[in-house]
Amino acid sequence: MGGLFISFEGIEGTGKSTQARLLSEYLSKNGYAIVLTEEPGGTPIGLRIREVLLSVEHKEMDPVAELLLYNASRTQHVNEKILPAITRGEIVITDRFSDSTVAYQGYGRGIDLKLIYSLDRISTGGLMPDITILLDLDVEVGLKRNRGINKTDRLELEDVKFHKKVRDGYLELAHREPERIKIIDASGSIEEIHSKIVSIVMDLPKIRHRR
Ligand code: TMP
Repeated sequence: MGGLFISFEGIEGTGKSTQARLLSEYLSKNGYAIVLTEEPGGTPIGLRIREVLLSVEHKEMDPVAELLLYNASRTQHVNEKILPAITRGEIVITDRFSDSTVAYQGYGRGIDLKLIYSLDRISTGGLMPDITILLDLDVEVGLKRNRGINKTDRLELEDVKFHKKVRDGYLELAHREPERIKIIDASGSIEEIHSKIVSIVMDLPKIRHRR
């Protein structure tokens, strides 16, 4: 049986990583084989690329260089980790995937979406998540949450206007692909959000057929 591919998306401070971890723990406890991973990163090479991308010292990074590096990390991630796991019939949960590039480099930076999508086809070979959980939150609240835990990287240092464009981009994507991208209000409690995510995922035909 083929695997299942789930991605988590959202602006900074929405609790994506926490929710990805909670979902992975829930599914593991219920007997599913899980690979929990993240972008940029997910592989040793991807982690090196992540350091280059997120270092606050790299303020001069060219937007197209940035786009290519996110895609480089993704190609390695898909071929080394995601596809093999899906082929083994496992469930892959990734904290960010292609929608992040569309939202941040496309809507945020203003790079032509046609270029973004054609690079994406090269990097992923057309692989798309079966389901994407979009955690949606007010930009100021999200940034404040991350700064509260002292989390800063090069993209978080962008101004509120940039992050608003990213959020609007995500919402537009979700309206374009409502079957795949499920919007969840991230202002609720961790437990509330987790149970909404569990009900969406456990209702997927690919999961129901495994029970
Ligand atoms: P995070 O994993 O801590 O959320 O950090 C990753 C940062 O990289 C975050 O600011 C979003 C950004 N990003 C992009 O701009 N484009 C991408 O394609 C991905 C995967 C992440």
